[in-house]
Amino acid sequence: MFPLRFLLFGGLVSLCVCQYYDYDYGPAPQSVPSTPNCAQECECPINFPTAMYCNDRNLKFVPIVPTGIKYLYLQNNLIEEIKSGVFDNVTDLRWLVLDNNNITSDKIQAGTIDKLGSLEKLLFSNNKLSKPPSPLSKSLDELKFIGNQLTSFPSGTLSSMENLTSIHLAKNRLTSESIAGAFKGLKSLMLLDVSENKLKKLPSGVPPSLLMLYADNNEIESIPSGYLAKLPELQYLRVSHNKLVDSGIPAGVFNVSSLLELDLSFNRLQSIPEVNEGLEHLYLQVNQINKFDLESICKFTSPVNYSKLKTLRLDGNNVTQSSMPVDSSNCLRQASEIIFD
Ligand SMILES: *[C@@H]1O[C@H](CO)[C@@H](O)[C@H](O)[C@H]1NC(C)=O
Ligand SMILES: *[C@@H]1O[C@H](CO)[C@@H](O)[C@H](O)[C@H]1NC(C)=O
Ligand SMILES: *[C@@H]1O[C@H](CO)[C@@H](O)[C@H](O)[C@H]1NC(C)=O
Ligand SMILES: *[C@@H]1O[C@H](CO)[C@@H](O)[C@H](O)[C@H]1NC(C)=O
Ligand SMILES: *[C@@H]1O[C@H](CO)[C@@H](O)[C@H](O)[C@H]1NC(C)=O
Ligand SMILES: *[C@@H]1O[C@H](CO)[C@@H](O)[C@H](O)[C@H]1NC(C)=O
Repeated sequence: MFPLRFLLFGGLVSLCVCQYYDYDYGPAPQSVPSTPNCAQECECPINFPTAMYCNDRNLKFVPIVPTGIKYLYLQNNLIEEIKSGVFDNVTDLRWLVLDNNNITSDKIQAGTIDKLGSLEKLLFSNNKLSKPPSPLSKSLDELKFIGNQLTSFPSGTLSSMENLTSIHLAKNRLTSESIAGAFKGLKSLMLLDVSENKLKKLPSGVPPSLLMLYADNNEIESIPSGYLAKLPELQYLRVSHNKLVDSGIPAGVFNVSSLLELDLSFNRLQSIPEVNEGLEHLYLQVNQINKFDLESICKFTSPVNYSKLKTLRLDGNNVTQSSMPVDSSNCLRQASEIIFD
């Protein structure tokens, strides 16, 4: 077995998730008294009167949300349907958390989510959506649909969302065709996660603001020439557990100076692709690599100029420590973690 110790480094974990640790899935403190207008099934803490906590209550429905609520927590219930009327007095709702329910697309009635014109976060993971609710607020900054049954993501879904910074679509049934054009023109997008879908290629038309692109566990065989050159900010690219072969990696496609982490583990590569000397983490474990091409990593060897590489995973390939050229150490002097097996 090949250990995956270092796989989940950095990226999103430090940048985009931590700020939510205090609310995600966290029930409100039980001792806090509720404000008078609160739905009887829920809690609205007096010291945070714009929030209504209805999470973890075995609810089968969305309670009527009283005027004044801006943050609504409904995660971890048994909700199957969003009936019209429930949001009538809170069309200025900012956060709607619906993770871990049982909602299908056909049970979201008109006049509910589509009327929330100020919505900034829509967290809808682990439900049964087959397509995103529509239309969605132009004010969204975060969208999460992890673990649904999305087969469709129409190209207009996200249009004019100038503040949208992260989109989580992992664990759905999306194909390259079904997301074609969906991310075009998003000015603020930093994170796109399309892992665990049925993509045959990396998403097209992704905006140049992107910092993190996660496409693990798809069916990607190749990367278009110049793909990364159009993403000058991209720091984290994960394409592990796909079907990449050497012939699908055009020369220099990863030779971009912004990239810090490149995960190509669990593919079918036979050689180490050329990377930029600024890259810090390169994951190539479980491929079919049978030689150590130092020049793919080190384009120069001088005492003052060396690769920034810290992690290089080569376990689960056909190379060993002895495959490394003797002059490697000068260039790989920052590499604290070179793993062969
Ligand atoms: C919305 O607010 C109005 C005025 O406060 C009230 O009469 C009405 O019952 C509320 N509707 C819902 C669905 O709560
Ligand atoms: C979810 O909904 C389906 C019908 O859409 C139902 O068969 C299933 O029992 C529900 N699951 C839960 C946990 O409520
Ligand atoms: C985007 O954010 C800015 C700054 O917070 C705000 O002024 C603007 O209205 C937002 N855009 C949308 C479409 O909500
Ligand atoms: C890699 O990119 C650098 C600029 O970042 C460029 O100078 C160099 O020629 C490129 N190498 C190859 C082999 O394309
Ligand atoms: C190191 O090598 C790169 C690429 O060949 C070059 O652009 C850079 O100027 C060199 N830096 C030093 C300090 O020699
Ligand atoms: C693995 O490497 C050894 C030595 O370089 C070579 O003889 C052998 O054919 C390689 N095996 C495969 C499956 O590529």
